[in-house]
Amino acid sequence: MKVYLNGEYVPQDQARVSVDDRGFLFADGVYEVCRIYNGHIFLLEPHMQRMRRGLTDLQIPADIVDEIPAIAERLLELNPDSARLANLYIQVTRGAAPRAHAFPKPPVPPTVFVAVRNSKPYPASYFQDGVGAITVPDIRWARCDIKSVALLPNVLANQQAHEAGVFEALFVRDGELIEGSHSNLFGVLDGELWTAPSSGHILSGITRQMVLEKAREAGITVRENAIPMSRIGEVTELFLSGTTTEIMPVVKLDGNAVGDGTPGPITRQLRDAYPSWIEEELAAATASHGARSGQTAS
Ligand code: PDD
Repeated sequence: MKVYLNGEYVPQDQARVSVDDRGFLFADGVYEVCRIYNGHIFLLEPHMQRMRRGLTDLQIPADIVDEIPAIAERLLELNPDSARLANLYIQVTRGAAPRAHAFPKPPVPPTVFVAVRNSKPYPASYFQDGVGAITVPDIRWARCDIKSVALLPNVLANQQAHEAGVFEALFVRDGELIEGSHSNLFGVLDGELWTAPSSGHILSGITRQMVLEKAREAGITVRENAIPMSRIGEVTELFLSGTTTEIMPVVKLDGNAVGDGTPGPITRQLRDAYPSWIEEELAAATASHGARSGQTAS
């Protein structure tokens, strides 16, 4: 596999990052994960917008983001063996400089890493029958909206889920279910679809945004409210959303059945529609790409 690192396309085993890199020393950087379906990058632009926002908030130059679509396309050409299902991983850090907490002065060039990685699909039963989850206290900082590479609380939470034999750990903050260690969370309460509002307490997922739009279009009442743990017994459905998680039903929480212990009707409706959202989006992206590059649709 060839990867992109700081302006060069190199075999992955020859890609080297400095031990002074601030991503390594301080987790001083951001990342993105996009899904690649059949060689096409899904929802690249919203991922790029989020990356631009994160870099700007961290005062890391964001101009490289404009080049990432072309870099990603080049990587797809250089790695023709990419599987039907792959991930595009992008990481930008503040760069390499002798260790000191404050930003390097003068600034150093950001470290930019982009790779296409084949991905093994989750078992179909996860989507069909649902998965289990546990709750864990949210010990993260107040800027979870930045997709920072500082993922230690997420790593520890996910490890707990693994040890409990379930798919995901759901963070609880101030008595409310916030999101998963690597996914957003939706639940059905009073027949309405609830999800935590965009704030510094969650990563506002690209998939979450799509679910909100499509649910509204389908006439489902949506509430951007976090589910209180005090009402968890009344929740009839739960599901996760995320780039790699897609829409995944949660049928067991902390060992208790959610609703009747099977994926509920709203979850099934959205999960079953997901492949058509991918198709529509990829068709629209191909059409606009054709228009941009001066091709005519035929
Ligand atoms: N995770 N919340 C958290 C904490 C996440 O890490 C993710 C994504 C999401 C879902 O966001 P999106 O729909 O934009 O993928 C929510 C990625 C995929 C990861 O870390 O691998």
